[in-house]
Amino acid sequence: MSTAKYLVTGGAGYIGGVVAAHLLEAGHRVTVLDDLSTGFREGVPGGADFIEGRVQDAARYLDASYDGVLHFAAFSQVGESVVDPEKYWVNNVGGTMALLAAMRGAGVRRLVFSSTAATYGEPVSTPLTETDPTAPTSPYGASKLAVDHMITGEAAAHGLAAASLRYFNVAGAYGRHGERHDPESHLIPLVLQVALGRRPSISVYGDDYPTPDGTCVRDYIHVADLAEAHLLAMDAITPGEHLICNLGNGNGFSVREVIETVREVTGHPVPEVLAARRGGDPAVLVASAATARDRLGWKPSRPELADIVADAWDFARAVGAERGA
Ligand SMILES: NC(=O)c1ccc[n+]([C@@H]2O[C@H](COP(=O)([O-])OP(=O)(O)OC[C@H]3O[C@@H](n4cnc5c(N)ncnc54)[C@H](O)[C@@H]3O)[C@@H](O)[C@H]2O)c1
Repeated sequence: MSTAKYLVTGGAGYIGGVVAAHLLEAGHRVTVLDDLSTGFREGVPGGADFIEGRVQDAARYLDASYDGVLHFAAFSQVGESVVDPEKYWVNNVGGTMALLAAMRGAGVRRLVFSSTAATYGEPVSTPLTETDPTAPTSPYGASKLAVDHMITGEAAAHGLAAASLRYFNVAGAYGRHGERHDPESHLIPLVLQVALGRRPSISVYGDDYPTPDGTCVRDYIHVADLAEAHLLAMDAITPGEHLICNLGNGNGFSVREVIETVREVTGHPVPEVLAARRGGDPAVLVASAATARDRLGWKPSRPELADIVADAWDFARAVGAERGA
């Protein structure tokens, strides 16, 4: 595609920041809209315009000069969504409703949305395909599924060109953009915090699952591969169609494999503590990447866990150094 102008909501966060950086590198113009509720001002890549504001107020900022929107702004802590579900409906669903109305009003008719594997819930088969049943087990997953349904309706009724990309476990880092959730709940950054000496040990929640080593298996995708899929999706979408597409490696790694890889990459001991299973953790969550390959022409170029962990480690050390750790 020739040079275009995009609004990136949530572009001060982890994934939105990496995608914004890729868009800029591809020669596009980028405006980041982010309220910094979980993101960081320094996460906005140089070269992007920045609006500190809420997606709920998108109508104030969107106009016909934009060619499309990439929508990352959301709350995404599964556990928090269980204890505070309304926070998720208000921000994730309410925010996207306002965004869709603003896009309609401004005549901006291209959207790529961050959906999630959490829309499926307990998998009925593996690897998961986009036609598998959706039965989310958390308000977070339910809020993202509700948005997917909203986008399907918007495409059918009003001709929006849209894609929902259902990410599995996003990991790794891209330059100065890496994972920094607070509280951190994602496995790779948590294990790296142990390697850095900032946590005493890593908890392994159950080792009696029906998997090769008994621990849960997840599909990890490098954030830079994920970013490339967004640029391809923006080009692949067509008016009136809502493309739903899983983004994963199609390959699973167990919790113990992740811990072992962190030990190898960092050279640090990582003590582990066996804990009880957590409710709602499926044994295996692996994506079928066939739709992404066929519809987007996408293939991950960094599928090795060691490469993903190595990039995340560089980022974790840089952040540790900033904080004087
Ligand atoms: N990280 C993963 O593994 C993963 C997996 C599946 C889906 N996702 C989805 O990807 C997206 C990005 O996730 P992330 O890990 O980068 O999270 P993040 O918290 O780093 O980024 C989200 C950004 O959105 C901003 N934001 C939230 N609500 C807003 C609002 N109402 N208005 C303006 N800005 C707002 C936050 O300040 C933050 O900068 C989310 O939608 C998440 O649900 C992430």
